[in-house]
Amino acid sequence: MPDGRPTPQELLEIAVTVARQAAATARRMRAEGVAEVATKSTATDVVTAADRAVERQVVESIRRLRPRDRVLGEEFGPAGGGEAPAAGEEPTGGGRPAAAPAGGPGAVRWIVDPIDGTVNYLYGLPHYAVSLAAEVDGEVVAGVVRNAATEDEWTATRGGGAYRAGRRLRGSTETDLAQSLVATGFGYDPVRRAHQGRVLARLIDQVRDIRRFGAAALDLCLAAEGMVDAYFERGLQPWDLAAGGLVAREAGLRVAGLSGAPAGPDLVIAAPPAIFKPLHDRLVRLDAAGGP
Ligand code: IPD
Repeated sequence: MPDGRPTPQELLEIAVTVARQAAATARRMRAEGVAEVATKSTATDVVTAADRAVERQVVESIRRLRPRDRVLGEEFGPAGGGEAPAAGEEPTGGGRPAAAPAGGPGAVRWIVDPIDGTVNYLYGLPHYAVSLAAEVDGEVVAGVVRNAATEDEWTATRGGGAYRAGRRLRGSTETDLAQSLVATGFGYDPVRRAHQGRVLARLIDQVRDIRRFGAAALDLCLAAEGMVDAYFERGLQPWDLAAGGLVAREAGLRVAGLSGAPAGPDLVIAAPPAIFKPLHDRLVRLDAAGGP
C-alpha cells in the first residue's frame, strides 16, 4: 500500500504460507504419537506438545517475515492466551489476552490457534485445524483455517470474499430455522456445559438437527460453505473466532452476538441473514449467553 501498510492480500499470503507449514508439523506430530498431554482450565481441557510446538513455529515464522508484528496465541505464556511481543519488546503477562495491539497506526497483530480441536487431535479424529488471522488496527483483515488432517483450507480477506480451493463461498440459502442444520460447541467447564446442554435440549426440536464437531474455527468454515446452515457457541476466545469468523462473514453470513453485541466470548452466532434473527431470538429466550 502507498502508506506502507500491508494489504489484506499480502497478509493472507503470509498467513497461508505459515499455516501450511504449521499444519504439516501438527500432522507429522500426530503421526508420531501425541506427547506431553497436560490440562489447562479443567481436567478435560488439554494441551499437547504439538499445540506448543506448532504455536512456537508460527511465532518464529512470523518473526522472520514481519519482526515488528505481535502474535496473540492460545498457548503463549505460562497460563496460555498471551501475546508474543514484537522483536525487542517485553512480553505481556501470559494468561490474559491483550485487548489490542500496541504500536502506531497500522500495527499488525496475528491471532493463532495452533490446534483448534485439540480433543479431536488427541483421539485421532481427522478434524483439527490451524487457525491464523491478521488484525490491522484491531480489525481482522485476513484469515486462514487449515484442517491439518485433511488439508482442506479456507481463506478470506476483508472485503475480498471467502474461498476454499478457489471456489467463492456463499453460505447456506436456507431460510427456515426449522429446516436448519445447526452446529454448536461446548466449553470445558462442567457447570457451563450443563447450561449449554439445557439450551440445546430446548433448541433441538426447533431445528432440523444439531452437529457438534469439536473445532470452532472449522464450524465457522463449514457454515461459510453451507455444509451446516448456522453455528452458535458461548465462550469462544479470539483465537477460536478470528480467522473462521472472517471466513463466515465474507461468505455473507451475519456473525454477531446477542442484541446487537459483537460476536465474542458471551456468544457467537454465524448464520445467513434469513436464519440469523429467528435463531438469535430463540437463543435469547433460552438464555444462551447466560449461566457461568
Ligand atoms: C475448542 C474447540 C471446540 C469448542 C471449544 C474450544 P480447542 O478449542 O474449538 O469445538 O467447542 O469452545 O475451546 O480447545 O480445541 O483449541
